Amino acid sequence: MATILVTGGAGYIGSHTRYFLQKQGHSVIVVDNLSRGHREMVPDGILREIDTRDTARLTDLMKRERVDAVIHFAAYIAVGESTKVPELYFANNVSGSLGLFDAMLAAGVNKLVFSSTAAAYGIPQRVPIAETEPITPINPYGESKVMVEKILEWLDRYREFRSVCLRYFNACGAEPEAGLGELHDPETHLIPLILKAVMTGKPVTLFGDDYPTDDGTCIRDYIHVSDLAEAHIFAVEDLLNGGTSDVFNVGTASGHSVKEVVTAVERVTGKKVPFTIGPRREGDPPSLVADSQKLQSKLGWKPKRADLDRIVSDAWEFALRNMNQNEQLAYGRRQKADT
Ligand code: UFG
Repeated sequence: MATILVTGGAGYIGSHTRYFLQKQGHSVIVVDNLSRGHREMVPDGILREIDTRDTARLTDLMKRERVDAVIHFAAYIAVGESTKVPELYFANNVSGSLGLFDAMLAAGVNKLVFSSTAAAYGIPQRVPIAETEPITPINPYGESKVMVEKILEWLDRYREFRSVCLRYFNACGAEPEAGLGELHDPETHLIPLILKAVMTGKPVTLFGDDYPTDDGTCIRDYIHVSDLAEAHIFAVEDLLNGGTSDVFNVGTASGHSVKEVVTAVERVTGKKVPFTIGPRREGDPPSLVADSQKLQSKLGWKPKRADLDRIVSDAWEFALRNMNQNEQLAYGRRQKADT
């Protein structure tokens, strides 16, 4: 078993990956500056509050703890925010990654799994999207991830630094039993926003119903965060066993429209989803679905929780557990009124 350092391990995907790494028997240290993560998502004793730009402290930590490999999640992820303050995204996502890589090189750690994104493809020409699709990001968030992928290519070539880049599609779902789930602030993602609409009775806006899809709403590849977390375990274990650098999509290869997600939430919760149709959101391609054959055939990973109702049900359970007191009271009153 190995010692793995997880940056951003107090965030959504990072906390789930930490959970599965420990279940697998690995020893884990979490590095997070808690600017967007949640302290309560990290078990006692393994959190180090360090910014990834703090190369000196990271080097010291990695040497002291004899770290074998790093899984790097720490980054900002809000596409809309990245178009307003691009510099923040390049500073945190690119400089932060460089600070970490410098520390790894200084500490003699040369294995990394990197959290990349389907946003690297921008508006793809072909769907399902294979890794060979042109890399043409259309926002600073996607560009910041692509820049790090590029840096990693050069480090592989000239510094014997091995990395696996995982390009995520739409992460969703939760591990409610473990107290883990999606808690972004502000929340911009579809499933938690629909669940919030069910809880509060305030309608969620669906961004456009005039896309060239069967029901007019956008299609996305929703992947359970635990399946995504397990992809990181396959990737890091492959590197630890001498695997080479590579890039993989992580998705289920099947797409669901926004309206299908609404219907799934209604099935799972037994409640009507209040929604309105709004204008299209800028930069939303009609359909993004992964071809994740490469990950399945090279690393043997398979999504085990791809059923949309399962995903929504886990997210719903987590949302119910995390509802704050006021929302719980209001939700209780509405339930009473409904019956
Ligand atoms: N949507 C709505 N209403 C909302 C929020 C979202 O209708 O209030 C729609 C969007 O228009 C889109 C779908 O729901 O069609 C999914 O939107 P999300 O914001 O949940 O996710 P995205 O597909 O926009 O983004 C995700 C990740 C990004 C990543 C991108 C890569 O969250 O980090 O996939 O394709 F960049």
